[in-house]
Amino acid sequence: MISVAIDGPSGAGKSSMARRLAAELGFTYVDTGAMYRAIGLYALRRGADPRDEAAVAALLPDITLDIQIMDGTQHVFLNGEDVSTAIRTEEAGMAASAVGTLAPVRAFLLETQRALARSRDVLMDGRDIGTVVLPDATLKIYLTASPAARAERRQKELAEKGQPADFATVLADIEARDWQDSHRAIAPLRRAEDAVLVDTSEMDIEASFAALRALVVKAQERA
Ligand code: DC
Repeated sequence: MISVAIDGPSGAGKSSMARRLAAELGFTYVDTGAMYRAIGLYALRRGADPRDEAAVAALLPDITLDIQIMDGTQHVFLNGEDVSTAIRTEEAGMAASAVGTLAPVRAFLLETQRALARSRDVLMDGRDIGTVVLPDATLKIYLTASPAARAERRQKELAEKGQPADFATVLADIEARDWQDSHRAIAPLRRAEDAVLVDTSEMDIEASFAALRALVVKAQERA
């Protein structure tokens, strides 16, 4: 089995790049952030503070997460409900980042993620894939861009969705999430020593895609 781990801060373009690479190069795309988002969403729906370890841990036995790959796209089912769209809000993203700091939540998701990589060639994105989930991945990529570049892209994306937001707010959200993801005690966001660093601050989408594609193709040829 070939596995490609793509880690990096939020807004670096991991999921759009990974989805496209997977479709073009024959991998199953596994979005681990979606799993944290589903747990964050569940905590919000149950009125629990997503930062409260005891409260969130108490909810875990009530959660059945089912990851299904349908036409190459991952769908996340939370207790039978397809929440793939519901988890895409800023609020669910922040809740995901909060529950992601909790040890019981990380332990809950680890085996699901590893099992997916055992059964097929995966391109898996997240924060700790190269460092914790798949330390023996065939290829590890750390995909990043400056906070300002990511905020600019995010602002454009929101405007296209008809949700205009001011730059300072978007930038502050990105910086808050970066801080939370990289300063937690367990499995913090960091570049694995053997990960290839790709910084797309000065690259457009096509140049970023070409750089990543070349890395993955080379790994496939070697494997
Ligand atoms: O990639 P994303 O924005 O969908 O991820 C949402 C949050 O989930 C992210 O801010 C931190 C958490 N997360 C994590 O802790 N570990 C992962 N492997 C993936 C996501």
